[in-house]
Amino acid sequence: MPSFTSVLAAAAAFELATAAPWGPWGGHKGGPPGHGGPPPLPKSPYHEIGSNSTLLVELGPRPYYLVDNMDAGPLKDKLNSCKAQPKSTSSFSISHRGAPLEFPEHSKQGYNAAARMGAGIIECDVSFTSDRELVCRHSNCDLHYTTNILSKPELAAKCSSPFVPADPKNSSSMATAKCCTSDITLAEFKSLCAEMEATSLTATSIVQGTPYFGRIGTTPDYRTNMFSYSCAETMSLKDQIALVDSYGLNFTAEAKTPQVAMPFQGDYTQEDFAQQIVDTFNEAGISADRVWLQSFLPDDIFYWLKTSPAFGAQAVYLDERADLTATGYDEAVASLPGLAAKGVKIIAPSIWQLVAPDNATGTIVASSYAIAAKAAGLEIITWSFERSGPLENGGGYYYTGVNNLINNDGDEFYVIDVISRVVGATKIFADWAATVTYYANCFGLA
Ligand SMILES: *[C@@H]1O[C@H](CO)[C@@H](O)[C@H](O)[C@H]1NC(C)=O
Ligand SMILES: *[C@@H]1O[C@H](CO)[C@@H](O)[C@H](O)[C@H]1NC(C)=O
Ligand SMILES: *[C@@H]1O[C@H](CO)[C@@H](O)[C@H](O)[C@H]1NC(C)=O
Ligand SMILES: *[C@@H]1O[C@H](CO)[C@@H](O)[C@H](O)[C@H]1NC(C)=O
Repeated sequence: MPSFTSVLAAAAAFELATAAPWGPWGGHKGGPPGHGGPPPLPKSPYHEIGSNSTLLVELGPRPYYLVDNMDAGPLKDKLNSCKAQPKSTSSFSISHRGAPLEFPEHSKQGYNAAARMGAGIIECDVSFTSDRELVCRHSNCDLHYTTNILSKPELAAKCSSPFVPADPKNSSSMATAKCCTSDITLAEFKSLCAEMEATSLTATSIVQGTPYFGRIGTTPDYRTNMFSYSCAETMSLKDQIALVDSYGLNFTAEAKTPQVAMPFQGDYTQEDFAQQIVDTFNEAGISADRVWLQSFLPDDIFYWLKTSPAFGAQAVYLDERADLTATGYDEAVASLPGLAAKGVKIIAPSIWQLVAPDNATGTIVASSYAIAAKAAGLEIITWSFERSGPLENGGGYYYTGVNNLINNDGDEFYVIDVISRVVGATKIFADWAATVTYYANCFGLA
């Protein structure tokens, strides 16, 4: 795969290489080539976070597997040199939906796993219930494929759309249902078990047990149901804040775009929803500098900037415009200076929008989006590593545009490195926080 020398050349072209805080191979801070000055070690191998000394950060075998799987070169040497280094929490490492590579998303068990894997910031995607309580769920209407709701007849009966099985004789006839957080109360929501997100909708019946656990569809084979057999606990935003705070870690909460008509129940507006998220953190006594609010809706960001500037200052505009229309990417790039002028501080497109292939050198470089965001003075965050599954065939959606330069699992660290040192992102979401924490620890990113 691409040589690291050309990545450094690309970094220099992007005028960021000199900002690298560590002494690289053959680099400026001394030490023999290939063995540049290592980052300072954390004080204790058992890094204690906040007051909770039960949290001993450990990364498990996966990051080591990925390093072993990398193509030979200076980046692999650098990451290899950190294998024995004690591991610690990093705010560079954001847990995306908990730890959904292996644990049901937005479950207490998944958040615990993310904390243990060194995520400094843990995400709750926020949606509302019929009694207007806030809960952690990736979508307003995903209960039929992320919980066991369909196996509970009295709750399944409340779903916006009932379960209709797939026709096994017709491969284009998919199972359907639509169950929304806003269909049920908080108490009902908390009686559900979180389950692995399903991708294929071939269920012909709802049964309690494998492979459906009472939700539509099957778990992709690169994830696992191992942590789904005992009920993974669903959580309200308040529950999630208390848990994450007990670890002394920080928060990111996304106002999920409602899929029900707003104002909900006639008088609960989008602004009420955005405000309720802020109120929930305030009531829990969490200061705004520990909270990164997010939304795909620019009006949510502008609302927070206007009404709660301390929260607005760390609000993250999730940018998916490039995925929505053929001209969306160029329109998004063109809009960045204007967004910055309106007070937006942090922009968060998906990974692919930040990287581009340099076919002449066979390397991955910063995209025009990344260059424009940097030029506009925007801080960059991106999502989500460890979501793609195996990378030997190019890595799919998150690696769009650079698929031709991706052909093994170890290439994930190559792209993380480009995102960090060439693009200059300050934080990275991952579905398995250990991988990004390993990188952050190795490069001394606190
Ligand atoms: C949480 O955020 C505060 C304020 O930004 C920061 O001082 C602290 O280091 C952060 N903690 C972690 C674990 O990232
Ligand atoms: C198969 O299912 C699709 C989608 O529901 C439907 O449009 C089509 O008519 C079905 N074909 C037959 C032969 O039933
Ligand atoms: C530490 O974290 C564990 C696991 O979430 C929790 O049960 C415990 O109450 C926490 N302890 C403190 C002192 O916050
Ligand atoms: C780089 O190569 C890929 C794969 O061959 C191709 O799809 C893409 O258009 C090329 N990009 C440029 C800028 O030439």
